[in-house]
Parts: sequence; structure tokens; C-alpha cells
Amino acid sequence: MEIPVKTPSHSYAVTIGKGILREALTAQHDLFTKADKIIVLTDENVWTAQQSYFEANFPYIFEVHVMPAGEKCKSFENYNEVQTYLLKQKCTRKSLIIAFGGGAVGDLAGFVAATYMRGIPFIQVPTTILAHDSAVGGKTAINHELGKNMIGAFYQPEAVIFDITFLHSLSEKEVRSGMAEVIKHALISDAQWVEELLEGDHVTELPENLLANYLAHGIQVKATIVEQDETEQSVRKYLNLGHTYGHAIEAAAGYGRVAHGEAVMIGLIFSLLLSEKFGKVNHQFTKRFLHFAMENGYPFEAVREFTFEQLTEYLLKDKKADYGQLQFVLLETIGQPFVQKVELEQCREIDRQLRALLAEV
Ligand SMILES: NC(=O)c1ccc[n+]([C@@H]2O[C@H](COP(=O)([O-])OP(=O)(O)OC[C@H]3O[C@@H](n4cnc5c(N)ncnc54)[C@H](O)[C@@H]3O)[C@@H](O)[C@H]2O)c1
Ligand SMILES: [Zn+2]
Repeated sequence: MEIPVKTPSHSYAVTIGKGILREALTAQHDLFTKADKIIVLTDENVWTAQQSYFEANFPYIFEVHVMPAGEKCKSFENYNEVQTYLLKQKCTRKSLIIAFGGGAVGDLAGFVAATYMRGIPFIQVPTTILAHDSAVGGKTAINHELGKNMIGAFYQPEAVIFDITFLHSLSEKEVRSGMAEVIKHALISDAQWVEELLEGDHVTELPENLLANYLAHGIQVKATIVEQDETEQSVRKYLNLGHTYGHAIEAAAGYGRVAHGEAVMIGLIFSLLLSEKFGKVNHQFTKRFLHFAMENGYPFEAVREFTFEQLTEYLLKDKKADYGQLQFVLLETIGQPFVQKVELEQCREIDRQLRALLAEV
């Protein structure tokens, strides 16, 4: 299945399906034959788990560079190492980068591609559920010690090739993490889809064809938004639903311990509580959604590990924060997002409500 993404800066397609790697790569023949060198950037876990399938289905000559996994991949140090590697390989402006991995590899490789010799082409080959989100839309970044994703660029890939065969080797934690972004895409776009998710199997036990459908649906939601607003001036902000409070939990816990999507799920509950106040979401729905999230093993115990004061430090670091006022994406009703300024004091109250609710269920 192909989903077009048309942004002002660049148009490309996301190809998604099972066992599609070779065919989708072959469809990009022109891009590959133009390239003087093809460099695959990946991480140690992905390469260990998926090297043989990748090599068996990659019909061009390539060099591979294996990086540390997780957020380490997005460090300045690794960024520098990869640039050094490209220079030593004598890569030019005609070289092509393949980002083979999850969101961390994709963000790093994208930023490397955006900046190596002022920009060279790259293709996203995502290997996590979460990357149905991160590989589409052209946000690339590395982390600074003062904040995550603080250094980056909007830079679109030439293509996204999502072979769901790669998902077989994901841990349950990573499946759960990635599904939170799928659920986020549902919440900002489609009440009926949300119902289906809430009524469906555990997110870690979805049948493969249904999962593929959901991923394609999520990509479609993201593509539609990115087409309207490539650089996050307006509607693209909706994609941050759950991320303000989620990022604070993720950062406070230390990156990796609570996975990105796991933290986003906690943030989604926070946003629903806020949406009761500023929108028309009813409390019954929030409770039902929390119940679903708990049943699915999202780690809400993380909230209790920190006080609101500890989280505040991170809340205020949010890229969208503005002099003690925070910007949240909320829901008017399910499927209808809007952006709302919220005072820190109001956040404190919602944080109290969240803790009370967690103690109750
Ligand atoms: N650019 C964007 O728009 C955007 C959007 C959302 C998230 N992100 C970023 O994405 C990152 C999170 O992405 P992620 O959850 O994919 O994390 P990740 O890339 O760190 O992958 C998670 C873990 O799974 C391993 N892994 C990946 N694919 C595997 C496979 N097929 N089999 C076995 N193991 C595999 C990785 O090595 C890693 O240990 C964060 O850095 C976040 O900031 C970016
Ligand atoms: Zn996210």
C-alpha cells in the first residue's frame, strides 16, 4: 500500500506492507543508480535482529555503519562519529543514506542527511511501530544535554519503506510504546477508530493484518496534517497530544527506562483530564481510556515516582512553553483537537486529579 506525502518542500511516498522491502527498494531504482555510495545507518539491536532479512532483500551494494541503540544514537558524540565516518568513506553530495531502525536511528540519520555537505538524500526504513510516526513528516533531531530533540531540522526523506516483517523482533515494551502513537493518531482524528481500539484485543496481541491497517491509518492521519503544515505553525501541533506531560515523565525517569510511547500514554490521560476542563470530554471516557491503558500494561507507576515539582522543571523546558504558560493540545471531543494555553497552577490541579484517579482504579 502506498500513501503519498506532499509537503511544500518535497513529495514522497510511504510504502507499507509485509515483505515489501525488495519491491519497494527496486521501485526507487533511479535514486539508487544516481547515488555514488549507499550508506546504511542502523543500530546494534536492529542489525543483530534483522541483518539477514535486510541483506537478502537489499538489491544494491551498500556500506553499513552500526551505531549504539536508543537515545545514545542521538547524542552529539554519535552525530560527530557518523559525520566522520561519512567523510572517511569519501561520501559526496550524491551519496544516499538509508536510515534503518526505529525513531532514534531515523531522527539521527535524518539530521545527518540534512547537514552532511548541506544536505544529501535519505530513505527511511523504519523497524518499530513507533516509527510509523517518526519516519513520516521530516522532523529530524539529536539531543542536547539541556534538552531532547533540541538540535534538528525539518528535512523530508526521499521515501519511506515500511516492511512490517521487521516488527517481529520487537519486544512487548516497544510494541506497547509504538501503539501509544497509533492511539494518539486515532484520538486526534476519528472517534470511531478510538472505539474500535478500546474494544479490541490487547495492543501487543493484534493480528498482523489489523496492525498493518492501523499503521497505514496512522500514517494517513500524519501525512494529511503534515501536508497542511510542514513546519508546525498550526495543525501540526495536534500531533503533540499527550507529549507535554509525557515528555516530562520520560525525561524525569531517564530516557529509555520509560519508553517514549509509554510516557506519551501517561500524557494522553493528562490531556484527557485537561480536556474535561477546557473541552467537552466526559470523565467516564477518561476513566474508560485509563482502564484500557492499564489493562495494556502502560507503566503508570512512573507517575508516583516524581512529585509535580520535579516534573515542573521538565514541563517548563518544553519547546512550546512560554513564560510559565504551557501550551497543550486538548480534545474538544474525541477526534477534534485544539491548542490551549494552560497556567502552571492549572497543571498542578490536573496532576493532583491524575494521581487521585490512579489511586482509585
Ligand atoms: N521525528 C519525529 O517526528 C518523531 C516522532 C516520535 C518520536 N520520535 C523519536 O523517536 C525515538 C523513539 O523511537 P523508537 O521507539 O522507535 O525508539 P528506538 O529507535 O530507540 O527503538 C527502540 C528500541 O528497539 C530496538 N529496535 C528497533 N527496531 C527493532 C526491531 N525491529 N527488532 C528488535 N529491536 C528493535 C532499538 O535498538 C531500541 O533499543 C525518540 O528518540 C523520539 O524522540 C521522533
Ligand atoms: Zn511521540
